[in-house]
Amino acid sequence: MNIEKAKKIFEKYVENYNLDDDKIKLKYDHSLRVCELCKKIALYLKLPKEDVEIAEMIGLLHDFGRFEQIKIYDTFDDRISVDHAVLGVQLLEEFDIDQFVEDEEVQKLVKKAILLHNKTFIEDNLTEREILFAKIIRDADKIDIYYIWTNLEVKTVDAKINDKIYHRLIKCKIDYEERKNDLDFYLLLIGLVYDINFNWSYHYLNEKKYVNLFIDRVINKNKKNYFKLSKIKLVIKKYMKKREKLC
Ligand SMILES: [Fe+2]
Repeated sequence: MNIEKAKKIFEKYVENYNLDDDKIKLKYDHSLRVCELCKKIALYLKLPKEDVEIAEMIGLLHDFGRFEQIKIYDTFDDRISVDHAVLGVQLLEEFDIDQFVEDEEVQKLVKKAILLHNKTFIEDNLTEREILFAKIIRDADKIDIYYIWTNLEVKTVDAKINDKIYHRLIKCKIDYEERKNDLDFYLLLIGLVYDINFNWSYHYLNEKKYVNLFIDRVINKNKKNYFKLSKIKLVIKKYMKKREKLC
């Protein structure tokens, strides 16, 4: 397995799509950053060299289905298009995954981690290694989603905060309530901090301040919900500090 070679093959693959399209470019850059983040997490976990490379490969390929999804449906929303993880695995098989990974066992691990990266919960009946790589990609992906949101526009929402979502968030529970407006979506993103696995990931996020900055921007655009959003901010800040400690 050779990550630098894999990056070149990946780059060639993405050239089949329109890199002038912001959505395509965003996912290309995201894939490369997530690849690096997976490596950082794997190194923090002191995994052997081969496993660090597997983690990197998963990071690089986890959104392989996004490019076709955008080309066909012009959206990232799986609910109205297609499960991009399932599509990614299908495309990798068609594209000949051997170009990236030769070992069949490793191919299985990579595909499994891709399938698990965007699911609400990971299944119980997984092997230790499947769980390990699923956790790595899920953390790396979320970290980069927060990074991406430091640059995306937060919209003003006039609606009152959904109390059910609010109460769950201040109890440090993730919320997958149906999204009715942009604020619900922002709260869903904020709540993802409760579904992060490694202390290192909290440490990194605290250092970069991505989550805090994002919550501040949401508060600024939703003055009506100032007190409740500020409460969420406080709870999350405390939670993230606590989770970072064991790092
Ligand atoms: Fe994804």
